[in-house]
Amino acid sequence: MAENCVPLDFLGDLRRTHTCGELRASHAGSRALLMGWVHRRRDLGGVIFVHLRDRDGVTQVVFREDTEKTVHQKAELLRSEYVIAVEGEVTLRTPDTVNPNIETGEVELVADKLWILNDSRTPPFPMEDTVDVSEDVRLKYRYVDLRRPLMQRNIMLRAKASFAAREFLSSQGFLEIETPYMTSSTPEGARDFLVPSRIQPGCFYALPQSPQIFKQLLMVSGFEKYFQIVRCFRDEDLRADRQPEFTQIDLEMSFVRQEDIMEVIEPLVQAICRTAGYELQLPFPRMTYEQAMRSYGSDKPDLRLPPFYTVEDLFPGAMLTGEGLPLVAIVIPKAGGISRKERDEWKAFGAERGLRVYDDVKRLDRDYPGPMAEVRARTGACPEDLLLLAGWTGPAPAHRPEHAVLQACGQLRLQAGQKYNDKHKLLDPRDLRFAWVMDFPMFEWNEEEGRWEAAHHPFTSVHDEDLDKLSVDPEACRAKSYDLVLNGVELGSGSIRIHRRDVQAKVFQALGLSDEDARVRFGHLLEALEYGAPPHGGIALGLDRLVMILSGENSIRDVIPFPKTAKGTDLMCGAPSPVSEQQLRELGIALRRR
Ligand code: AMO
Repeated sequence: MAENCVPLDFLGDLRRTHTCGELRASHAGSRALLMGWVHRRRDLGGVIFVHLRDRDGVTQVVFREDTEKTVHQKAELLRSEYVIAVEGEVTLRTPDTVNPNIETGEVELVADKLWILNDSRTPPFPMEDTVDVSEDVRLKYRYVDLRRPLMQRNIMLRAKASFAAREFLSSQGFLEIETPYMTSSTPEGARDFLVPSRIQPGCFYALPQSPQIFKQLLMVSGFEKYFQIVRCFRDEDLRADRQPEFTQIDLEMSFVRQEDIMEVIEPLVQAICRTAGYELQLPFPRMTYEQAMRSYGSDKPDLRLPPFYTVEDLFPGAMLTGEGLPLVAIVIPKAGGISRKERDEWKAFGAERGLRVYDDVKRLDRDYPGPMAEVRARTGACPEDLLLLAGWTGPAPAHRPEHAVLQACGQLRLQAGQKYNDKHKLLDPRDLRFAWVMDFPMFEWNEEEGRWEAAHHPFTSVHDEDLDKLSVDPEACRAKSYDLVLNGVELGSGSIRIHRRDVQAKVFQALGLSDEDARVRFGHLLEALEYGAPPHGGIALGLDRLVMILSGENSIRDVIPFPKTAKGTDLMCGAPSPVSEQQLRELGIALRRR
């Protein structure tokens, strides 16, 4: 007997004959045994209707008092989310009762047997997608939340996407090889999660930020084509597209150039997108990092909005922007004629980022009629479009000042696109605009620490012709690296690696890493490079991000079965949580206040 006194039946030898999404008009007249959850129940007195749900769909089950009195009585006990088995005859519905909203809507199961396999407490929220539930409640009862049709669809899509990736890569001769989760630090720019060792007190494993070093070692070992659908762990600030543990489709190949890797990734992504009903055109557009910055002010451009244009050359001597810095013309289609208040908002948005935004086009037209006509010709701006000019105010930033201006303009472009999206449908989530961004700078200036750091990671090759500049002009060095971007999201990132010990040492030097530091942190890789490392390269795609976009979600939490909150908490299990004094003692760990 269950807690609320519903007599429960055993599963015994019962076997279902069909799923809840399977029955059609062609099954009418036959018998069926279904199992699932009571999705909805309507009691009309002499007749009880139950929508029975399993992962495959929903079937209407009918319990009639006049023909099956005891079964009908038992059905009166049913409540939402009870788990039942029902057997009966598949019956055609009358034309006026056909339900076009469910695939089984032409039929119903007239039950003559009912088994209640389990009862359920009243669920914390209804199973309908349309009901708005706070994310905290959803995450606390994630096992219930995952029953909702949208979440079922997302998780199934994720499974299909992983399967398509495995199938495609295996068909191309890639071997799926596992690499350790308990390892030492792999640098990907985030903090490590550490795991204390009991056997060696005071020592810690690091969870991998990515399998980067291992996959390179697998190339040294001669496996030539590796892939893994692999969990990565990064202790970083979380956002809608970042989780502390996430999944990469990770691969590495030997004897390849950048193009070879792109040629594998494009049909791979095509195969994955096909599982969500998209047919992609290949190849994806390619642009250099420089072009991306000059046209979009971002290394992950959203191509659904038009590019911007630099126009300082059209206004000689006008002082609309800082000396020698770009003046940028941004066009947002159809969004012209905005209010005074909105124009002030754009000015304020720009000012916060060091930009002076010229929003008063009429005035510009009056003051600079010739140049403005050329701006329109260059940008293709129409009268109904929003046209903003933006230049730099104040002193120029010390490093790559041009990029700082372009980047701020990129933010303005994107923000304006997002703001007017609702009204003008500028960013259709079903419009998948992939692009490759290539030839990133090798190094980025870390303002806080006052030093150069690797823009991708320190194992990335420099362009052959920039090799000599490593020690004298790091700012000018370009990397053999490439990102795959989709609708403004960085979907994947990769590079051709350094396979020569001497070159790796030079890059470590340029990064200010002493020989001793390099030996302590990456000694095993450096040594491996001395044992016949082949030229190699690879890439990793963010599976969560790809599935998020394919399922039309705005957060990767909605495509991860058991995600963490923005604070890194698992609300269902209560992780992270304090551990017992005894566990700490065994690990030789004493806690101290921060
Ligand atoms: P990178 O660090 O750029 O490269 O990561 C590759 C891709 O992984 C996804 N990603 C994330 N997804 C969710 N949450 C996160 N916290 C998160 N961090 C990264 C992104 C990103 O593009 N070893 C290299 C790859 C290589 O060079 O082969 C690496 O990990 O989609």
